[in-house]
Amino acid sequence: MSKLAMADSRVHKLLLLCVFVILSSTVSISSASEEEKEYVLTLDHSNFSEIVSKHNFIVVEFYAPWCGHCKHLAPEYEKAASVLSTNEPAIALAKVDADAEANKELAGKYEVQGFPTIKILRNGGEKIQEYNGPREADGIVTYLKKQVGPASPEIKTKEDVERLIDDKKIFIVGIFPKFSGKEYENFMVLADKLRSDYDFGHTSNAKLIPHGDSSVTKPTLRLLKPFDELFVDTQNFEVESMEKFIDEASIPLVTLFDQSDDNQPFVSKYFNSPDSKAMLFLNYDHEKKKLFMSTYHEVAGLYKGKGLVFLMGNVQDSEHILEYFGLTKDQTPALVLQDNKGVKYVSQNVQADHIAPWLKDFTDGKLKPYIKSEPIPETNDEPVKVVVSKSLKDMIIFLINLLSIDLTIFYLGFTVLLEIYAPWCGHCQKLAPILDEVAVSFEKDPNIVIAKLDGTKNDIPGDTFDVKGFPAVYFRSSGGKLVEYDGNRTKEDLIEFIQKNRDAGSESTSESVKDEL
Ligand SMILES: *[C@@H]1O[C@H](CO)[C@@H](O)[C@H](O)[C@H]1NC(C)=O
Repeated sequence: MSKLAMADSRVHKLLLLCVFVILSSTVSISSASEEEKEYVLTLDHSNFSEIVSKHNFIVVEFYAPWCGHCKHLAPEYEKAASVLSTNEPAIALAKVDADAEANKELAGKYEVQGFPTIKILRNGGEKIQEYNGPREADGIVTYLKKQVGPASPEIKTKEDVERLIDDKKIFIVGIFPKFSGKEYENFMVLADKLRSDYDFGHTSNAKLIPHGDSSVTKPTLRLLKPFDELFVDTQNFEVESMEKFIDEASIPLVTLFDQSDDNQPFVSKYFNSPDSKAMLFLNYDHEKKKLFMSTYHEVAGLYKGKGLVFLMGNVQDSEHILEYFGLTKDQTPALVLQDNKGVKYVSQNVQADHIAPWLKDFTDGKLKPYIKSEPIPETNDEPVKVVVSKSLKDMIIFLINLLSIDLTIFYLGFTVLLEIYAPWCGHCQKLAPILDEVAVSFEKDPNIVIAKLDGTKNDIPGDTFDVKGFPAVYFRSSGGKLVEYDGNRTKEDLIEFIQKNRDAGSESTSESVKDEL
């Protein structure tokens, strides 16, 4: 190798070294500045109150590190936070790990029940409001900009109308000859109260408002909607009456079940309604679709305001919901009813002229409830026994209906551990082999039964079980005491729990039976 070449290669090495040093230093610089650029504030129990009290308006996301929806939200939330940091006034976005033990009390105080839960806190935390907005950056920004402004902006011009009123959404406008008096004040109270659910505005110029050419002389609340009669008025300005009016007017006569974004608020409103629910699932290519639709609308009209709300969906869009009710496409057109206690009724392969009489039978209490169930398994010889809704009565071990139906169960004295699971649930998949081992360890004891029920394919009686998530593990002692098991899901803990509690309640069997009845 020549001297020159050696020198060259040394220079080369040096250069490389320099490049490396520069590169690594820029890397560390840029990662440092990226950390600084985190716009979402991280709060915990130690500084939550202090930080919140300093903000007139702050948004807090309560999340759990393992929650998928939270992970999807995170980059969007961060993006929104960076945009909103320059808003006038600035809008702060914060997050709290509500799953961390130290923050659980805080989460409890804010009634966090699912993840993510997002709250808007005003006046240093004095006023708490639900965040009911979108979950992507642009949507978050638009929604929060509106939330930080007045609950009801004044509509003065055509431009205001265009800017504020979205004709695909519900909009509530107060029309007042003058902006004072009891009606106006109550309207403002209402707007403030419901601002996270609806858009509000007020005006003294009725002509500006869509469908506004009728001369409005008295204070009037007008609800604009993208369906049915398109607008409805009321002149009753009692806050409670207005709320009730809005609640009723904002549900379409027949809610359409589809996936379009604009329609989602109406779909969720339908399903959140406390009323009984009628649903028609129809293939929109059906040759008698028109007849079905007009009949269904007509019937819905007859029941308006009578505690029964209506929904209709194209079979194609309704796969999941059909599955939820244990129905298949070839059973459509299908009518489904779910009453306000959750009891279901189903009529398959209906004709249009069946709709009205069937609903009448429902209101007359003549229909037989429908229970979704897998077929009873032909063999059941694995250690963990398969239970389905239909076999509840047959497999005496199954706890439920027994309480109300067959008291002999209490003299049979089985001890049962039942897992209610979903096939897609990871924690359930983890529990399955453990449950197998538990079952094997009790195999020689005929009085102990370990069982499982697929909660997605079988209806679970809500009066006995309160299943909030999967897996739900229930335990029934030989004495008839039913509890949800919330201990560790290890083989040792489960076995110990069963051993310890198998006879619970047996001395006072008759009493505890009476209690549960
Ligand atoms: C609140 O405290 C936590 C834990 O000490 C810290 O990580 C976080 O940065 C603090 N938040 C603010 C906004 O000061």
